[in-house]
Amino acid sequence: MQAVELKKDIYWVGAVDWDLRDFHGYSTENGSSHNAYLLRGEKNVLFDTVKASMSSSLIQNIRRIIEPEKIDYIISNHSEMDHTGALPEILDLVKPEKLICTAEGQKAIVAHFHREDWPFEIVKDGDTLDIGSKTIQFLGTPMLHWPDSMASYILEDKILMCNDIFGQHWATSERFDDEVDHGELFWQSAKYFVNIFNPTCGAARKFLAKLESLESTPEMLAVDHGLIWRSGVRKIIDAYRRWSNQETKPSAVIIYDTMWESTSKMAQAIGRGIAAEGVSVKLFDLRLNHRSDIMTHVLESRAIILGSPVLNKGILPKMADMLTYMKALKPTGRIGAAFGSYGWADTSVKQLNAWLEDIKIEIVDPGISVRYVPTDDDIARCVEVGERIRKTILDRQPS
Ligand code: FEO
Repeated sequence: MQAVELKKDIYWVGAVDWDLRDFHGYSTENGSSHNAYLLRGEKNVLFDTVKASMSSSLIQNIRRIIEPEKIDYIISNHSEMDHTGALPEILDLVKPEKLICTAEGQKAIVAHFHREDWPFEIVKDGDTLDIGSKTIQFLGTPMLHWPDSMASYILEDKILMCNDIFGQHWATSERFDDEVDHGELFWQSAKYFVNIFNPTCGAARKFLAKLESLESTPEMLAVDHGLIWRSGVRKIIDAYRRWSNQETKPSAVIIYDTMWESTSKMAQAIGRGIAAEGVSVKLFDLRLNHRSDIMTHVLESRAIILGSPVLNKGILPKMADMLTYMKALKPTGRIGAAFGSYGWADTSVKQLNAWLEDIKIEIVDPGISVRYVPTDDDIARCVEVGERIRKTILDRQPS
């Protein structure tokens, strides 16, 4: 993909990663992009780089605008390798006057690349860099999502280079949000938020407050993955506010695995009990759905219902995988319940309830287990469990 101008003398010079399919456990079935930006002026500034294997795209894009050797400063907003992997090659080529990052960023970059000799210049929250006709203000964004993370705001152009924040893992030939379907864009943004930022919602809320306190509202959010926001700036900021406040809708997700379809039948019956009076329900068979897609539905669901049959006195392994992943993402303020079938040891519901407690999901029903194959009476009891869950979902509706 060719360099694209965002505003006069400010360019996207990144790389589109069409083939990326996994990002440490998060499925990226639509690929991603690793965005870097070049500001041309009295001082030429490169914001972030790309992963090591895509450095040639970055260098080609820079060459379309200026000779790389003319770059004066490199700003590294975040040390993760998708943004710094190309740093060694770029620094060798460019030999910049300054490599600007936070103190935590310097520690992390040195720990990654073992190059204490690079020309580090440390900045902290609120510092500014005067580069003649433009001023760059640095905004600390610690734990969004690493301790070193920061954003860089070009004050005169109102462009916020916000690194991972507001991003999406979505490979496209388009560069701006108003060039793509917003339904898909917000789905990808929600998936990104829950799988990357959900564990640090408090940090996200602090960052949003900082954003509101800026003298000017950014007109462009130049993300390091996916589409640059220019028409939907307010919409994505509002969505981050809802997501970081863990606001939920009157809805439930039923997540289950099944051995001989008994637990699947129970899932269907509980779902029938939940789905009425404006309460929405979605069922996810773990054999068919990826954990990171399920989490995208968990993001706005008030109830999380878990089902597994017993396997060797435990739960099925895909459920253990799901719960390990979900626990680390720390969904808060949810209610839950468990169900499952068994043969001779009635243990899976107890174990799922223990998981619910561990994830701090409030158990609102003791759950239901069924021996081997559910009878009509068992199915009716599952529907009743669903109906009780529905009432609790409605009781928890914010006034
Ligand atoms: Fe896109 Fe945290 O790296």
